Amino acid sequence: MAVDLLLGLQWGDEGKGKIVDVLTKDYDIIARFQGGPNAGHTLEFDGIKHVLHTIPSGIFHKTAMNLVGNGVVIDPVIFQKELDALGKFNIDYISKLLISRKAHLILPTHRLLDAASEAAKGKAKIGSTLKGIGPTYMDKTGRNGMRIGDLELSDWKEKYRALANKHEAMIGFYNVDIQYDLPELEADFFKAVDQLKKLTFIDSEEYLYRAQKEGRKILAEGAQGSLLDIDFGTYPFVTSSNTTAAGACTGLGVAPNQIGSVFGIFKAYTTRVGSGPFPTELFDADGETMGRVGNEFGATTGRSRRCGWLDLVALKYAVQVNGVTELMMMKGDVLSGFPKLKVCTAYNYKGEEITHLPYNIEAENVTPIYTEMDGWAQDLTKMRSPEEFPKALNEYIAFLEKELEVPIKIVSVGPDRTQTILR
Ligand code: GDP
Ligand code: IMO
Ligand code: MG
Repeated sequence: MAVDLLLGLQWGDEGKGKIVDVLTKDYDIIARFQGGPNAGHTLEFDGIKHVLHTIPSGIFHKTAMNLVGNGVVIDPVIFQKELDALGKFNIDYISKLLISRKAHLILPTHRLLDAASEAAKGKAKIGSTLKGIGPTYMDKTGRNGMRIGDLELSDWKEKYRALANKHEAMIGFYNVDIQYDLPELEADFFKAVDQLKKLTFIDSEEYLYRAQKEGRKILAEGAQGSLLDIDFGTYPFVTSSNTTAAGACTGLGVAPNQIGSVFGIFKAYTTRVGSGPFPTELFDADGETMGRVGNEFGATTGRSRRCGWLDLVALKYAVQVNGVTELMMMKGDVLSGFPKLKVCTAYNYKGEEITHLPYNIEAENVTPIYTEMDGWAQDLTKMRSPEEFPKALNEYIAFLEKELEVPIKIVSVGPDRTQTILR
């Protein structure tokens, strides 16, 4: 039985959480494969909005198991807060949540190191979520990290102490003014670790292998987006993991030949939170309207998201590196009322017209070339079938499908579960 993937094709916040929640009824296991609490995945149903950071977005369904894979980095303190929020809705997370022993731990000092590194960069800062993601993955690849499985060993606190001491020395090296009370942070951390240990830690690659053999259906949930991928994103303004399809193989231990459908999610326009190049970014009233109507504020940090027109050059690149088999277009409703819509179909790159994503996409190298299309005035949010779509929306969708050469199977017209239209 193949493992299906669901991932973001832009700079994150495409609506992954919403669609994973919608698709969960068709799966037995939802498995997060990378990232950590830098993610904020929003789900909305029965008039209530939920935000998840580390916990897979299938957790609200009774039927599915939810696995936090080895590729994920876990902050026990934030994890505990997520569990507490679920507890208020009587979600039985104890029996529905599994954690890979090979997932790495975010220590309080990783968060401090993130802050120190960003402060030291000044204007060149990444705009990190300050959740300690970069320093934790650095310790992973540097072979110094602590893993969930370490918590089952009697000497884990000694290992913790040695690493935290090293981090403190490193914070000093940055020579920036970071205020912190480590004993207080550590008290919270140890308390949260005790809670975390009540959950089930497993050898998740083995679990997933058996599940596949038994014919159970698995959906791998990505975090962030393809343009934030450590290899293929807009480096250095990226996150520290592989957000693209290959990340699901390394982040779960699933073999490449076991990958089935690859669901690629994109917004009908583009947003980005944090620093870094964004060729189609708008600084005018149109961008302001997208932000306001789309309620474009980060689910993790509350920062306002930068907004702009859809960038097909970047989107094509993402479709390509992920091998997307089905597309899902989100937030079409936000574009209602724009008389004309623009879609970037090529770049003017240092005087030459190109249709591939070049090495440098900073504003001094790249100017977007737009195709203009008619907009639609109708409110989409109450529509429930594609037959109700206005002509201009159908034309917009048909244009994207032709350019991207992949069918758009879902059109989302609002944040709620029910505002999801299959084509
Ligand atoms: P994720 O990180 O990819 O899971 O996305 P986020 O949850 O960070 O951001 C997506 C935001 O858009 C959330 O506030 C969702 O509730 C909201 N949303 C998702 N789909 C739609 C849609 O089709 N229309 C509108 N208006 N909002 C949507
Ligand atoms: P979801 O899963 C949007 C961005 C940060 C910053 C850069 C690096 O909700 O789509 P990091 O904390 O990872 O070191 O930050 O990546 N970023 C996200 N942007 N959505 C996310 O996750 C993000 N996770 C990280 O804003 O620019
Ligand atoms: Mg998000």
